[in-house]
Amino acid sequence: MRKRIIAGNWKMYKKAEEARSFMKELVDTVPASENVETVICPPSLYLYELAEMTKSSTVGIGAQTMHEAKEGAFTGEISPKMLTDIGVGYVILGHSERRQYFNETDEAVNRKVHAAFEYGLTPIVCVGETLEEREAGKTVDIVATQVKKAFEGIADSLAPTAVIAYEPIWAIGTGKTATAENANEVCGAIRNTISELYGKDVADALRIQYGGSVKPANIDELLSMEHIDGALVGGASLEAASFLKLIEAGS
Ligand code: G3P
Repeated sequence: MRKRIIAGNWKMYKKAEEARSFMKELVDTVPASENVETVICPPSLYLYELAEMTKSSTVGIGAQTMHEAKEGAFTGEISPKMLTDIGVGYVILGHSERRQYFNETDEAVNRKVHAAFEYGLTPIVCVGETLEEREAGKTVDIVATQVKKAFEGIADSLAPTAVIAYEPIWAIGTGKTATAENANEVCGAIRNTISELYGKDVADALRIQYGGSVKPANIDELLSMEHIDGALVGGASLEAASFLKLIEAGS
């Protein structure tokens, strides 16, 4: 009943021509599926061109981050208003790399979630624990707190349209994946948290992705889990062939 969502996060990879030819292949080949929504989040430099290329396709474009203000004297930043203006539909917020290297706090993530909704963007809110936190048995507490803080003040009507990505930090780019059962368990805890905040209907409608070394070899098992509605993919989204396999698996 929840439409799957497979999103590629290119991080800081690809030259312009590589981005262009990947997108051409994707737009030409991606099957129009009722079961899966496809999103590419390229470096901001390519957002405009890729949004133009995907205008009449089913592929969505997302930013990897944004500023929370509509405009202003914020050198180097991109606003939600600008993203909407060029046809971007999604924005990743609170990715662990933003939290770790750019001091993105839970409070900042919350302000950005509000801003995303204000400008009609779908926020993909990332949460996840470090290895130390996992080993200390704190995973569920950590992700539940991140979710609660990210959604503070978000209306019941908007909450179910957000996407949450559970990305255990120790599984990102390491080749280590949480077992499907374990990822499902944490995604289930996230759904419970949403249910506590908004009730069961909202929790049943909101989509939760798993992220962290997702690849063609493990996607089927992950997607077979009750609470996993898609994937946020780094490395395996950089090659069109492997990304297409992930979309097929979701279709
Ligand atoms: O946002 C996606 C990401 O952090 C996972 O990266 O390379 O482990 O798929 P990767």
